[in-house]
Amino acid sequence: MQTFEMRTAIHFGENSLNRLKEIPYKRVLIITDPYVVESNMIDLITEPLKKGGKEYDLFFDVVPDAPIDKIAAGVRKFLEYQPEAVVAVGGGSAIDSSKAIREFALKINPYAEVSLIAVPTTSGTGSEVTSFAVVNDIYNHVKYPLVSDRLTAEEAILDAELVRSVPPAVTADTGMDVFTHAVESYVSTAHNEFSAALAEKSIEICGVFLLRAYLDGNDMHARQKMHVASCLAGLSFNTAGLGITHSMAHQLGAVFHIPHGRANAMLLPHIVEYNSGIDKYSKSQKEYPPAVKRYSNIAHVLGLSNYNKVMSVHSLVNWIQFMQKEMGIPMTIREMRTIAPEDYFGAVDRMAEAALNDACTATNPKTPTKQDIMRIYTRLWE
Ligand SMILES: NC(=O)c1ccc[n+]([C@@H]2O[C@H](COP(=O)([O-])OP(=O)(O)OC[C@H]3O[C@@H](n4cnc5c(N)ncnc54)[C@H](O)[C@@H]3O)[C@@H](O)[C@H]2O)c1
Ligand SMILES: [Fe+2]
Repeated sequence: MQTFEMRTAIHFGENSLNRLKEIPYKRVLIITDPYVVESNMIDLITEPLKKGGKEYDLFFDVVPDAPIDKIAAGVRKFLEYQPEAVVAVGGGSAIDSSKAIREFALKINPYAEVSLIAVPTTSGTGSEVTSFAVVNDIYNHVKYPLVSDRLTAEEAILDAELVRSVPPAVTADTGMDVFTHAVESYVSTAHNEFSAALAEKSIEICGVFLLRAYLDGNDMHARQKMHVASCLAGLSFNTAGLGITHSMAHQLGAVFHIPHGRANAMLLPHIVEYNSGIDKYSKSQKEYPPAVKRYSNIAHVLGLSNYNKVMSVHSLVNWIQFMQKEMGIPMTIREMRTIAPEDYFGAVDRMAEAALNDACTATNPKTPTKQDIMRIYTRLWE
């Protein structure tokens, strides 16, 4: 038996922030990052709350990648204020921090059921609908995905107006995170027809609108489409899981602070080649691993050539690399010029060990060895 469940009510489209007037809670804790407050974007959240007669307080000390010391500070704030609901406003870091803060605070003092309303300001993680929260153990330099249904937000609000200010580099990184979620969940060993349908739609939207949103951040049609694509991909991987692109990207984020989506984009062509067993030297074969058919379907959804399986996988790899070049995402770690080779190669063994044990590895279509992962990290340098 398989079960497909969607736990989050999704409000989307123009004026969807008006939902905040109607939420059935009086006392609200807003958790967000400093940018949202400094840019006055917070007014778009507090205005409808005020109109709806809500009381609110603010915790705006969230920083990228949800480090555990900031989560601890958020837990203290939560327990002092004792909200009826949390409104999480920001990118994946703010939403993941909010999930962890609610979870840990209610473990310490389970004074009531507290709802979580997630309001993403990036089109990236899909965290507004997932039961994942990635937290960053800054002391051991490891990122852990926490996984529990209790983390899932009760409501999500997708208003693309909040994404308008996202700078091009963040649009590129977060957009490639969306695409990687959709691809990894589509080829995952736990995929099903529901998750695949959501992933396909997300891939189709990325193919048409990601570059448009990158080139013109005020293209609100493209922004709205990518905001929905992000959520669709989140719904997809929430049931189907992800793969080793994410397992390996988590380590690059924890050790070298490479933005999550950028790390995914850089790794993805290598992982497609690894999982499919097809690289630029491959010839047609009589039989292929099951992932090859699925990667070919993805190439088809993107409108790329589908002459035969080897060409389809090549065209998918080429498309990802084309997007990297168009959007200024480096192809190799060396090209970034921010990481010394001795630091990088000194960390490969440790990162490979952690990636192997990452929760996302279990659903990768091919079971990797530590050596496989070390080889991919090594290739990523070049
Ligand atoms: N929970 C999940 O299911 C899941 C899935 C994938 C990734 N993640 C995690 O999410 C985190 C990454 O989240 P992210 O990619 O959304 O980035 P982020 O939340 O770290 O934000 C990136 C940067 O963009 C800025 N920003 C956010 N919204 C903005 C806006 N509207 N205008 C201008 N600047 C804005 C932030 O201040 C920050 O500096 C990572 O820790 C990653 O591991 C979680
Ligand atoms: Fe991701």
